Amino acid sequence: MSAQPKDIRLDDRHPDVENTLETVRHGLSAKPKRLPSRLFYDQRGSELFEAICQQPEYYLTRAEISLMSDHAGDIAALLGPEVRLVEYGSGSGIKTRMLLEHLEAPVAYVPVEISRSALLDSVAGLATQFPDIPMQPVCADFTQPLRLPVAARPPRRTVIYFPGSTIGNFEAKDAVKILRQMRAEMSDGGGIVIGVDLKKDPAIIEAAYNDAAGVTAEFTLNMLVRLNREVGADFNLGAFRHRAHYNPMVGRIETTLVSTARQDVHVGNEIYTFREDEAMQVEYSCKYSLEDFAQLAAKAGLAVEHVWLDAEERFSVQYLVRAPMAA
Ligand code: AVI
Repeated sequence: MSAQPKDIRLDDRHPDVENTLETVRHGLSAKPKRLPSRLFYDQRGSELFEAICQQPEYYLTRAEISLMSDHAGDIAALLGPEVRLVEYGSGSGIKTRMLLEHLEAPVAYVPVEISRSALLDSVAGLATQFPDIPMQPVCADFTQPLRLPVAARPPRRTVIYFPGSTIGNFEAKDAVKILRQMRAEMSDGGGIVIGVDLKKDPAIIEAAYNDAAGVTAEFTLNMLVRLNREVGADFNLGAFRHRAHYNPMVGRIETTLVSTARQDVHVGNEIYTFREDEAMQVEYSCKYSLEDFAQLAAKAGLAVEHVWLDAEERFSVQYLVRAPMAA
């Protein structure tokens, strides 16, 4: 159990069991069946995701960290002093640390994260390294509208930090919705610093989601472990397998849990039947060209002001601002 650091108040709006149960019932009744990827992130899921980031095939994290070590200073210079930094989905905090190190007199850091343990661990580490930056963690689902805490000192601008290409885990219409929500949160003069994974050789992308050590497969299957524990489901873990395939038509990895036999799964009083080889959709990881992403941002009323790339041009970090109103 993680200790809550002294003087840091956690704003806890974690969804309750009922909410998860409703999500699961809804997803298992859909045709085809699908469960949202946010269900991956219980404590074990967050640990497994950190382990994925260490896998040799998972280039995203290494590329983004190398980009940040080259450009965090330039990014911070563009953002200017007295920023209120809101992070959606705070992970291990390595990239955040790189950004905070370079920001001039930030007024607050507001991480919003669904996994309570990951949030508290990361904020505890950051609070030790940056004792002068007020930390205002919020445990919540950032895909839902939120009222975030205000900073004690007025900021010059609010900047949303959304690293890791997590935006790629949303289908276009949901990605636009989230970007619009961020646009509202940052208000006039604010911006979004966002990590965006780029299109490349499909074999490289597919390998990243099918690591040889099987960590990604364990991460995917852990969703079922979690549901058995939390909502009393009885998924047979030996009768599902992880499958991640790149769909070049839409430019995304499609991850499914495939039933290896015809079987019934119980959730409370409900019974859900899986056919042999039936694939349940659990995650999309969209990959973009710079043009694709600029078009997506435009749909949310945002313009790309700056793009930074890693040396091998595998990954981008982009700065989005409110698009000028059409005349
Ligand atoms: C968090 N997100 C950006 C990861 C991704 O690459 O889509 C989650 C992940 N799923 C499997 N591997 C990593």
